Amino acid sequence: MFENLKEQPADKILTLMAAYREDPRDSKIDLGVGVYKDASGNTPVMRAIKAAEKQLWEQETTKAYTGLAGDPGFADAMIDLVLGKAVARGNIAAAATPGGTGAVRQAFDLIRMANPNAKIHVSDPTWPNHLSIMKHMEIEAVPYRYFDSETRGVNFDGMIEDLKKVNAGDVVLVHGCCHNPTGANLNMAQWQEVVDLLIEKGAMPMVDIAYQGFGDGLEEDAQAVRLIASSCPETLIAASCSKNFGVYRERTGLLMAVCNDPAKQKLNQGTLNYLNRQNYSFPPDHGARLVTMVLTDPALRADWALELEEVRNSMLGLRSQLASELQRLSGSDRFGFIAQHRGMFSRLGASAELVEKLRVDHAIYMVGDSRLNIAGLNKDSVPILADAIVKVGI
Ligand code: LMR
Repeated sequence: MFENLKEQPADKILTLMAAYREDPRDSKIDLGVGVYKDASGNTPVMRAIKAAEKQLWEQETTKAYTGLAGDPGFADAMIDLVLGKAVARGNIAAAATPGGTGAVRQAFDLIRMANPNAKIHVSDPTWPNHLSIMKHMEIEAVPYRYFDSETRGVNFDGMIEDLKKVNAGDVVLVHGCCHNPTGANLNMAQWQEVVDLLIEKGAMPMVDIAYQGFGDGLEEDAQAVRLIASSCPETLIAASCSKNFGVYRERTGLLMAVCNDPAKQKLNQGTLNYLNRQNYSFPPDHGARLVTMVLTDPALRADWALELEEVRNSMLGLRSQLASELQRLSGSDRFGFIAQHRGMFSRLGASAELVEKLRVDHAIYMVGDSRLNIAGLNKDSVPILADAIVKVGI
């Protein structure tokens, strides 16, 4: 039977990760995969997570199964983090998932069950794995304009024009904050316009929020998802804890199905439980438990928020350093967008050939669409990158 299998396309981000590992050059710089790195290039376990882990090791008395939707305490803590008081708890069904990707996958499954004809409209560009999962599930992805390659900001007029074409029952996938891969984001007035349009069209928003706290702050980064979930009749939200809690390999995420009719909550919750059972039964618990402990213990939470703020500020500092270094070297303001972008990524808007040249000539690794991971930089590598960008002629 195995002879019938076909070679599957390799994931571009993960291929780049492997190529970087194999590069023997000492000077190599990894700006590929979206993983936070400190100034020495390490991805640390956050202090509060480490403290929670110690407590858990001492106090945990069983590894017996939790519920199909995971520990309800995790859902409560994450709903509070993502949605605050924007939506009544009784209107939200939620299930823990293996990472944010697990939540995305379960959301697509739910959409397919609820409306097999639904198209999912995705920003052009979006996280490549959104498209890959949809292709695998044979769900039609329809791109809407998003990135303006001239200004490196959002092409908002193009986005609205394209979203005017969505049909009732379709889904519009948006990034709650820190757009991946571009780093270009909507302001709140623009989000309001999108919300009004989706309500008018009868399309459902699906929000992927994987970088809360990496943009303008924990509360600020949640503003759009809160507006969407409190305004639209139904919303799906896929939240990841990988980055903001640094628990990448623990696979910790939450899928939320929000609706304005509490009578539908039971059905939604039952569907999320069912989907977990079909796909992997019980979701992973370790990371979810650590996150819950951190969010519900005031001292741990304060320390976590402080460390996250340090991470955010260090990325903002690197952004302004890179933008001004590029301004100095190129003698132009054309890289100012790097300081305006938010989150871990910025898309430079360079051709694949120039990105390849950066890798071959300068051992600088970024994704082929010219997405760079700001957190892969440090004060010393910023001038090296800026010099290489100008030298290859970006
Ligand atoms: C990324 O975009 O680099 C991250 O979300 C990691 C991944 O799984 O692709």
